[in-house]
Amino acid sequence: MSGSDNAKLSSLGKDYDFGIHEGTVGPSVIDVSSLYGQTGQFTYDPGFTSTASCKSEITFIDGEEGVLLHRGYPIEQLADQGNFIETCYLLLNGELPNAAQLEEFEGAITNHTMLHEQMNRFFHGFRRDAHPMAIMVGVVGALSAFYHDSTDVNDAEQRKIASRRLIAKIPTIAAMAYKYSIGQPFVYPRNDLDYASNFLNMCFSVPCEETKVNPVLARAMDRIFILHADHEQNASTSTVRLAGSSGANPFACVAAGIACLWGPSHGGANEAALDMLAEIGSVDRIPEYVAKAKDKNDPFRLIGFGHRVYKNYDPRARVMQKTCHEVLKEMGIKDDPLLDVAMELEKIALEDPYFVEKKLYPNIDFYSGITLKAMGFPTSMFTVLFALARTVGWIAQWNEMIEDPSQRIGRPRQLYIGSAPRDYADIKTR
Ligand code: SDX
Repeated sequence: MSGSDNAKLSSLGKDYDFGIHEGTVGPSVIDVSSLYGQTGQFTYDPGFTSTASCKSEITFIDGEEGVLLHRGYPIEQLADQGNFIETCYLLLNGELPNAAQLEEFEGAITNHTMLHEQMNRFFHGFRRDAHPMAIMVGVVGALSAFYHDSTDVNDAEQRKIASRRLIAKIPTIAAMAYKYSIGQPFVYPRNDLDYASNFLNMCFSVPCEETKVNPVLARAMDRIFILHADHEQNASTSTVRLAGSSGANPFACVAAGIACLWGPSHGGANEAALDMLAEIGSVDRIPEYVAKAKDKNDPFRLIGFGHRVYKNYDPRARVMQKTCHEVLKEMGIKDDPLLDVAMELEKIALEDPYFVEKKLYPNIDFYSGITLKAMGFPTSMFTVLFALARTVGWIAQWNEMIEDPSQRIGRPRQLYIGSAPRDYADIKTR
C-alpha cells in the first residue's frame, strides 16, 4: 500500500495526523489503527459502512458504477467466457490457469469430491424437514472431525489441501442435504462429469433410471456459481475472516460463513425473494407491496432490491436475468406468473421516486430464485447453492488473511452506554 498525504483530525482540542493509503483503484483509506493510542478514543461505525477491515487483492466492487472485478477480470467476462473451476483457480491463485495448471487443479478437485463414508450418518441425525442450510452448517463444521491432516492453518500445504477439499466436497454435501430432505438415496459424485453437471446429477438422478444432465442447465448452473463466487468483504466473508483470525480451522470458519449467509438480508434473500413474489401473487397487487416497502412503519422490504455497496445495477443481476430467460426457454416455461410479477415489479421499482432516490436496484438475488425454481430446486435449496458457490470466495479470502503478515485476531471495541460502576445490592434491599 502506498501512503503519502496525511489526514488531519482535531478532537477534544488536540490535532492528530493519520496516514492515507491508496489502493490500485477505488477509495483510499485513512489508517486509524493508531487512533486509540494517540487519542484515547475509538472510531464508531456500526455496520462498518465506512470501514475497510483489510487490504485485499481478490475482488473489487465499484458500487456507483456497478463494476465487479475478480483479480481484475470483469464478472461479465468471467461468466460469459470462463467457467467456475477456472474462476476458483483465479480467486485462489491470482491468475487464470494455463492448460496444464487447469488440468492439475480440476483433477485434484474431481478426486476429492467423495465424503468419508461415515459422514453419511450425520445427515440421518437431522429431521427430514430440517432446513438444508441447518444441515450444511452442521456437516461442513463436522469436516473438521474427519480431516485432521489439513487443519494446521500455519502450514501452506495443509491450507491448500483443505481449500481443495472444501471446493470439491461442498457440492456433494449440498446434494446430500437435498436428497435427504426429499427422502431419496444419496447419489455418489462421478469423475466423468464436470463440476456443475456432477452437482446436478447428484441432485436430480435416481438409481432406478439413467438420467442425462441437460447441458444448457449445466452451463446455467456453472454461470450461477461464477456469479456467486466472491464479493469482497460482505457479511459472511467478514465472518469467515473473523473466525479465521483466531486460528480456527478452515472447515469451522466456512461453517460460520454458511451460518451468516443464511440470513434473509444476505444470502437468504434469494429464498425470501421468491417467497415475496409468491406472496404478491399477481401484477395488480404490486402497488400495495411497493407502498408497504416505502412505509417506514412497515418492516416489509422488497427482497432482491437494494445493496450496501451497489448504488447502481448489480452487474451480476444483469447476467442472472439473461440466464433466467435462457433456463425458462430451455424448460419450456412461457408464462411463469412469478416472472411476470418480477418483471413488472422491477419496472415499477426502477421508475418509483422512492427507489430511484435511494438507488435501490435489483441485486443478484432478484432473478436467481426464479431461475433456480425453474431448474427444479425447492426454495429451501436456494441459499445452499449460494453457499456452495461462495465457499471458494470464503476460502480464498481466508487464505489471504492467514498469509497477511500484519494479520492479528479481529477484536473490535465499543461505545459503552450501560450502567456506571455501582456496588452489589443484597437481595433483601432490592
Ligand atoms: C446479498 O454485501 C454483499 O455483497 C452481499 C451480497 C453478496 O454477494 O455477498 O451481494 C449478497 O446479500 C445481496 C442483498 C440481498 N438482500 C436483499 O435483497 C434484502 C433486501 N435488501 C435490504 O435489506 C437492504 O437493501 C440491504 C440489507 C441489502 C442493504 O442494507 P443497507 O445498506 O444497510 O441499507 P439500509 O438498510 O440502510 O437502506 C437504506 C435505505 C433505508 O431507508 P432510510 O432509512 O434511508 O429511509 O433504503 C431503504 C431502507 O429503508 N431500503 C429499502 C430496501 N433496501 C433498503 N426499502 C425497501 N425495500 C428494500 N429492499
